[in-house]
Amino acid sequence: MAGAHLVLFIGCAIVLLATSTASAATVERSFHVQNLTVWRLCRPQVITAVNGSLPGPTIYAREGDTLIIHVFNKSPYNLTIHWHGIFQRLTAWADGPSYITQCPILPGNSYTYRFTITGQEGTLWWHAHLLWLRATVYGALIIRPKWGHTYPFPKPYKEVLLLLGEWWNSNVMDVENESLQLGITPNNSDAYTINGKPGELYPCSKKQTYKLKVAPGKIYLLRLINAALNNQLFFEIAGHVLKVVAVDAAYTDPYVTDIIVLAPGQTADVLLTAEQWPGAYYMAGRPYFNAENAGPFDNTTTTGILVYEGSASALIPKMPLLPAFNDTPTAHKFSSGLTSLVGARHWVPVPCKVDEQMFITIGLGLSPCGGNATCQGPNGLRFSASMNNASFQLPTSLSLLEAFFYDVKGIYTADFPDVPPLVFDYTNRSLSQSPLGFTLKGTRVKKFKYNATVEIVLQNTAFVGVENHPMHLHGNNFHVLAQGFGNFDAINDRKKFNLINPVIRNTIGVPVGGWAVIRFQANNPGAWLFHCHFDVHLPWGLATVFLVENCPILSSTLPPPPADFPKC
Ligand code: C2O
Repeated sequence: MAGAHLVLFIGCAIVLLATSTASAATVERSFHVQNLTVWRLCRPQVITAVNGSLPGPTIYAREGDTLIIHVFNKSPYNLTIHWHGIFQRLTAWADGPSYITQCPILPGNSYTYRFTITGQEGTLWWHAHLLWLRATVYGALIIRPKWGHTYPFPKPYKEVLLLLGEWWNSNVMDVENESLQLGITPNNSDAYTINGKPGELYPCSKKQTYKLKVAPGKIYLLRLINAALNNQLFFEIAGHVLKVVAVDAAYTDPYVTDIIVLAPGQTADVLLTAEQWPGAYYMAGRPYFNAENAGPFDNTTTTGILVYEGSASALIPKMPLLPAFNDTPTAHKFSSGLTSLVGARHWVPVPCKVDEQMFITIGLGLSPCGGNATCQGPNGLRFSASMNNASFQLPTSLSLLEAFFYDVKGIYTADFPDVPPLVFDYTNRSLSQSPLGFTLKGTRVKKFKYNATVEIVLQNTAFVGVENHPMHLHGNNFHVLAQGFGNFDAINDRKKFNLINPVIRNTIGVPVGGWAVIRFQANNPGAWLFHCHFDVHLPWGLATVFLVENCPILSSTLPPPPADFPKC
């Protein structure tokens, strides 16, 4: 029967032998990526999009299916597509981050991503992974249970996609390039969107408002994705209670709440029962902005409308009472209140024996302007970001994965530090502008033996501002053992670790001026980017890469790249 698995323990490898693959299908799609003009906020704007739509096409698959996605780059930009949250077991070549697992697909060229989805189901998404292209090059990737498997919650009447995005009244690539040249923070977005539509609180957007018609009494499964570039978002629906049943495509204990908060990269599966008086209700998203001493931000609100079938059409929708933009207690209550659904399909217990222990500081800093450029950042310097003071630089001549696979020297150094260069008072706000905040650029990565259990304490620093950074790990989910504010206390905070049912995710918003502890098993050979999912911080260097070695047993060895693999 579907789902029956035989588990074998052979040396270092745990091999899952599926005894039934009969139901697996192949899902084949073509992505034509090109520029087009769309109207938003009263004006035309040229954007890069997939198959002419914003958001791009939704991919529906079932667990066990093989995806074959042909990407044709007809845009003027270099391009890669990343399948955010997909494990990519033994298919690291299809993961997508530019210069990490592949060189970009050049304009006029194509590449076919092939991978099988195993061991996960729920809401994920895909997006461009090169500079800021993902602002408009993104879409949902929905993994339904295998045929014959049911959800661990009441069967929804319908499923609804809600992709939250961010909109610029300008070419995002130009916005980014200008900020990188001058070493400054880029311009803010002009709107947030729900399914590509800003909603009627923005000018000229009455028709650009997402509407959801619901039938009284029915249960809807909302699949929420934060696809915004640089902002965490609160989300709420007036008059309705939400029940979270999964995050980042991992089932959770049902969590009842009025308000959801999602960092860029995160997803949530949420049940909504249409149990209100017939009428119209706004759903709304606004930023959760927590950076201290930061400049202005896009403090606007996107809305969609939930309408009950049979309601009069001229109704004025009720507006939810959204939290203040800086309501950290509300955001933290939500994020730290989630727990995993023990025993659910694909659930994995916390690996107990830790092989690799890391303590990584994350945050913003400064670095010299470089070359003979002139920077307009603080003191004529440029904004920079780092992990353990190492500010990540992408290779340019070869992808890291190829360098690792073919053992090419000179592309990276495997010396990413396990601890910061110095122990200090990490979250002391008066350390801002201290020389400690100067970052060192480099392509420094960390190597793990196959199957190593890795525990990482992520600790926010306070040099140039303090901020909640959404850290995303490619190729793996992790358990979030604990999180809190201030400096991590190795003695007392360890006692708070949840080793029973911690939430499992692929992206964790590390509390502003605080810390989070994650644990995962490095059981997937490849090169896995670990980075801040704010697109403003990634090119500044808030990233590193984990190289996971092959297991000598054939079944866990990464095969060579496909024949059409892009060259640098
Ligand atoms: Cu959503 Cu590095 O990715």
